Amino acid sequence: MTKRVEIAQLLAQPPIGETITVSGWVRAFRANQFIALNDGSSMNNLQVVVDYENFDEALLKKVSFHSCISVTGKLVESKGAGQSVEVAAEQLSILGETNPDEYALQPKRQTMEFLREKAHFRMRTNTFSAVFRIRHALAFAVHKYYNDRNFYYLHTPIITGSDAEGAGEMFRVTTLPPENPPKKEDGSVDWKSDFFEKATNLTVSGQLQAEIGALALGKVYTFGPTFRAENSNTSRHLAEFWMIEPEVAFYDIQDDMDLAEDFVKYLINYVLDNYRADLEFLDKRIKDLEKNIKKEERREMGLIETLEFVVADDFARITYTEAVNLLQNSKPYKKGRFQYPVEWGNDLQAEHERWLVEKKFKKPVIVRDYPKDIKAFYMRLNDDGKTVAAMDVLFPGIGEVIGGSQREERLDVLKARMEEMDIPEEELWWYLELRKFGGAPHAGFGLGFERMIQFVTGMGNIRDVVPFPRTPGSAEF
Ligand code: 4AD
Ligand code: MG
Repeated sequence: MTKRVEIAQLLAQPPIGETITVSGWVRAFRANQFIALNDGSSMNNLQVVVDYENFDEALLKKVSFHSCISVTGKLVESKGAGQSVEVAAEQLSILGETNPDEYALQPKRQTMEFLREKAHFRMRTNTFSAVFRIRHALAFAVHKYYNDRNFYYLHTPIITGSDAEGAGEMFRVTTLPPENPPKKEDGSVDWKSDFFEKATNLTVSGQLQAEIGALALGKVYTFGPTFRAENSNTSRHLAEFWMIEPEVAFYDIQDDMDLAEDFVKYLINYVLDNYRADLEFLDKRIKDLEKNIKKEERREMGLIETLEFVVADDFARITYTEAVNLLQNSKPYKKGRFQYPVEWGNDLQAEHERWLVEKKFKKPVIVRDYPKDIKAFYMRLNDDGKTVAAMDVLFPGIGEVIGGSQREERLDVLKARMEEMDIPEEELWWYLELRKFGGAPHAGFGLGFERMIQFVTGMGNIRDVVPFPRTPGSAEF
């Protein structure tokens, strides 16, 4: 047998006339003659032509949807439309049978919900293989972007004792017996007798540790899993998601916004330049799906068009106060169409963010200087004493993809904020010492990796851009 070649490589530089071997999963078998074979190396299938007279009927019967086969034959120019080359099969073997009567998937369009329950097979579909190739592309581009700009990749811990966001939405990490944990005299659990001799949880953000890195290495970023036990069953929330958190010494909020905008544009460009076939497939997929819905509900632009549009233009930049004014003068506000109130001091809700991005500016918007009471303790207090140097990047169809801020570097101001918010100094003594010894102004942000993938792939639900979604009530696979 000749050595196996990957289909992507073979199609890029077809060795016409040579005998080659390919292996992969059958996407379709038409007229007992044409096999569409895919090995995952790219969006493209390789056409295999079988002359049924040369093969055992029982063998060809096993060439069914998503069975795994290996084929050896000559690579020739294709006479048919739709592909330039094809393999004329001389040998064909079945590596893994798939009995169509028992197999969960069918060769037809299936709902995303159904496929989620079959996560062990869904990557074999065109849609999910494209999504997960793009997920890889984006992860690679993240590292390339920062490496090319001399940032250091810092591995922050997954198990921590702190609640970086102060939101209390943490998964406890413990080895204490749940039915009978050791108790203190007052009846509360004695975490001193736990594995780490303190209460610990899965991290909600690597930021606080990244700040340690920034104040020594200058420019760092983290890229790892984060965990939030928030009970939000939405198309934008996961209990386990990945976050990219750059943190930079000597940056202020303006530098932070510039980095955020440049970074997300780079990621989009990287996929536009290198994963065109996958994007074209996903673009067409959305257009096909939208044929079934009302014209008004369809996207104004196609997927690729949206991506190209976002990288071409500057993002809008406004303050929170300006956002509130714009919202209060908006049509939906005046007609009472917003579900949540718009009042200075309240957090912007998804419906407000979407109006700003999709109706008002029709492009990504960066909102900054939020009221201090709705933001985390570590954000730098502005001179007005009411707002903090925070910024959120809002994307069409998604809402918040990035949340970031300039950090409070002034020890006295930080201490006062922590006291206001009931955050015990003992827990974050090291964070305070960073302000005491060789501190510096610094800033950073967190990009929600899955929300970014959602934007680039156009997938409607965040569960469909992560291989094995973790959401309330669901941790299969
Ligand atoms: O805005 P967040 O909570 O910011 C932080 O965690 C900061 N420590 C970041 C920093 O300044 N270094 O989260 C950052 C981003 C959000 O904008 C959102 O895109 C994403 O993380 N995110 C989630 N993605 C999926 N599921 C969830 N439950 C998410 N929560 C936040
Ligand atoms: Mg946020």
